[in-house]
Amino acid sequence: MAPLEYARTHRNRFLDELITFLRIPSISTLPEHAEHVAQAAHWLADHLRGLGLPEVEVVPTDGHPVVYAQWLGAGAEAPTVLIYGHYDVQPVDPLDEWHTPPFEPTLRDDNLYARGASDDKGQLFIHLKAIEAYLREEGRLPVNVKLLLEGEEECGSPNLAPVIEEHAERLQADVALISDTHILGPDQPSIVYSLRGLSYIEITVQGPAHDLHSGMYGGAVDNPLHVLARLIASLHDDAGRVTVPGFYDDVLPLTEEERAELARIPYGEEELLADTGVPCAWGEPEYTVVERIGARPTLDVNGLWGGFTGEGAKTVIPARAHAKISMRLVPNQDPDRVAQAALAYLQRAAPPTVTVTGRIFHGTPPALVPQDHPAMRAAAAAYERVWGRCPIFTREGGSIPVVALFAERLRLPTVLMGFGLRDDNLHAPNEKFYLPNFYRGIETAVHFFHLLPEHMG
Ligand code: BES
Ligand code: MN
Ligand code: MN
Repeated sequence: MAPLEYARTHRNRFLDELITFLRIPSISTLPEHAEHVAQAAHWLADHLRGLGLPEVEVVPTDGHPVVYAQWLGAGAEAPTVLIYGHYDVQPVDPLDEWHTPPFEPTLRDDNLYARGASDDKGQLFIHLKAIEAYLREEGRLPVNVKLLLEGEEECGSPNLAPVIEEHAERLQADVALISDTHILGPDQPSIVYSLRGLSYIEITVQGPAHDLHSGMYGGAVDNPLHVLARLIASLHDDAGRVTVPGFYDDVLPLTEEERAELARIPYGEEELLADTGVPCAWGEPEYTVVERIGARPTLDVNGLWGGFTGEGAKTVIPARAHAKISMRLVPNQDPDRVAQAALAYLQRAAPPTVTVTGRIFHGTPPALVPQDHPAMRAAAAAYERVWGRCPIFTREGGSIPVVALFAERLRLPTVLMGFGLRDDNLHAPNEKFYLPNFYRGIETAVHFFHLLPEHMG
């Protein structure tokens, strides 16, 4: 197939272009990088125009822009694929743990090291190069393509729903395609059919009206930090289950078939210990590690602060204590309901010596994609052609907000065709992309576009 040949011949240039893209520090959550985020959006738009896409637009939002492009030359009979990716990246701290600077992409062995290398600039670039291969070699694609490239995914996509709603007509498609997840190993492809959702809250425990001398008042007023510690300790039982009443009410149980499929995944306690450096695993005993991460809802404290944390000693009873808490959700939990339940529990469980107030941040619903959808079959066949092995279906613990938006607002299933690896150091120092997966990813996308029409038939 000529586009495959093209993709192989131009690998080095593709890599050079990706390196240029990765040099732009498009950190969406830091206001001082807003200009770089805009710069990355325009770089992408220019690149898409260079590929010969007739309609390319940088769409402003209340936050960072969305880049939209389409090529509809395959005709009304052919399927339409809506490709999503995010061009924003995570902050780089702790900077001193990077072996080479995060925005000076560096090759070591078969890996390209840079912030955004796999999450998600490198993975979204795969689709641009597959499109290029078709347009240059054949002047057309076997499918219509629409591209929606976002700059706020790492902040929870707070401004994406209105864009999707406003452009719902234009975004009509048969299937959505996202490369922003990973496969099981360099030689074992996999397709993610479920992502967890996310609920995020912050609580404040208020005791005295202002900080107090701990000698003058200690023993006569309750300490908000102690109360917060007790509240947080009460959120799990000894077996690792979340104690918030109603937390598990809407959880869709795993079927026996799913458990059997998940049991094929070569990942367990041993791999978990090696990956994380923990001395032993933790969590609900009746579920495997893979199930705990992919199929069970969880609650984690992300940050805890209050009182004196500086150098030396200061004797004080602080007026307030704070915590940030995230909950990962599974199908069919509702982020808002879960957040309300957690807040209500914390307020009820608090002693009369304090008041507890809370804030609910924007939530993300979980996602479940039917494994037998024709587009999933086409994706499986595409992986098999490139890897020589059938992909295993997996569930991931992470979240991608747009997947639920596509399902709810556009009635679109999403094929999560990832090419990262578990050790790519997402959100951490020394993020990387395993380059053989970059090149194989492009070939997989080429096959997918070719196979989709007959599968969707
Ligand atoms: N690409 C990740 C999601 C991901 C990570 C999926 C690992 C599968 C495995 C995405 O960029 C991400 O980091 N999502 C955030 C979403 C949040 C900010 C709403 C997450 O999961 O924390
Ligand atoms: Mn991502
Ligand atoms: Mn991410």
